Amino acid sequence: MRLFLSPPHMSGKELEYIQEAFENNYIAPVGPFLERFEKSVAKFVQAPAALALCSGTAGLHLSLRLLGIGPKDKVAVSDFTFIASLSPILYQGATPILIGCDESWQMDPNALEEALQKERPKAVILTHIYGQSADVKSIKELCERYGVHLIEDAAESLGTTFDGQYTGTFGILGVYSFNGNKLLTTGGGGVLVGPKELIERARSLATQAREPGVEWYEHKTYGYNYRLSNIAAAIGVAQMEVIEERIAKKRQIFAWYQELLSEKASFMPELPKSFGTRWLSTALFEADPLRILRELKKEKIESRPLWKPMHMQPLCKDFTYFGQKKEEELFAKGLCLPSGTAMNKEDVQMVCEVIGRCLG
Ligand SMILES: Cc1ncc(COP(=O)(O)O)c(C=O)c1O
Repeated sequence: MRLFLSPPHMSGKELEYIQEAFENNYIAPVGPFLERFEKSVAKFVQAPAALALCSGTAGLHLSLRLLGIGPKDKVAVSDFTFIASLSPILYQGATPILIGCDESWQMDPNALEEALQKERPKAVILTHIYGQSADVKSIKELCERYGVHLIEDAAESLGTTFDGQYTGTFGILGVYSFNGNKLLTTGGGGVLVGPKELIERARSLATQAREPGVEWYEHKTYGYNYRLSNIAAAIGVAQMEVIEERIAKKRQIFAWYQELLSEKASFMPELPKSFGTRWLSTALFEADPLRILRELKKEKIESRPLWKPMHMQPLCKDFTYFGQKKEEELFAKGLCLPSGTAMNKEDVQMVCEVIGRCLG
């Protein structure tokens, strides 16, 4: 491939930090870089505490476990999202309730309210999709009114704000992903943020739930092996040092697409009061997006359809849905365009030329 969708972009400091971890023989899921990484994320998003994990999915699973979600419970979840927002609900044996999106491409508060009234879910998992913020204040207000926990799946939206506050910090717990294609990466990883007491319980669950204060292995409950390694955290520390630059570049790439495709495509909106990272530049076309995807592929340029809505997935065919199925049109017309932060304007021009040729 000449251009990937959103490849890792190193700051230049990663190897130096990894070297330091090697010199101190901290090749383990404990070590000073883990604490530095957790502190840097918590400080940046202004969260009380943070826990580094092997994935964002693990963070969502721990959130549900911490809130006591089990087999008899229902959990409302964004319909227009990646499967990892929903699968932790199934890990807990609970039932997902799918909530469609509105014009913002994000969870529709009206559809959520109907679900809260009719289904009485115990928690809501709100995804902030493609680096943009949902109407998180309205959704938080609804959750408070109905006495429901709000978990934010901010896997794609590290660095995004709504009303000056970072996504991931509105709900009781929030999750960021550091997967290879995200704004920043640890080569696979996630961070859970929330109140200190919950994060300390999550830390225990993420390390097999060993009881403290005794020499032997004592267990009152079961846990998981969900920690991040100190080596991966060293990469994360170096990545966090360039977060502002990466956000500015993602937004610049989006502005170039907007300028060059203004007559050929429409774009994901940015809600008033919000400031998104544009983690992936996404666009809607009147032509079949798969035709464009295949033309781009011929030129060794990677693109991807928008998320296939959960209610259209065979896995989810029996789950209750609330909303207007607006996400079906997004899936039918949309593409994620190459958005790597090492791209320059010529790269974006090349992508737009292929799209222009394809649209005729
Ligand atoms: C919306 C969403 N939720 C959850 C995840 C899961 O994150 P991870 O891949 O770190 O497990 C991802 C990304 O992969 C995602 O895009």
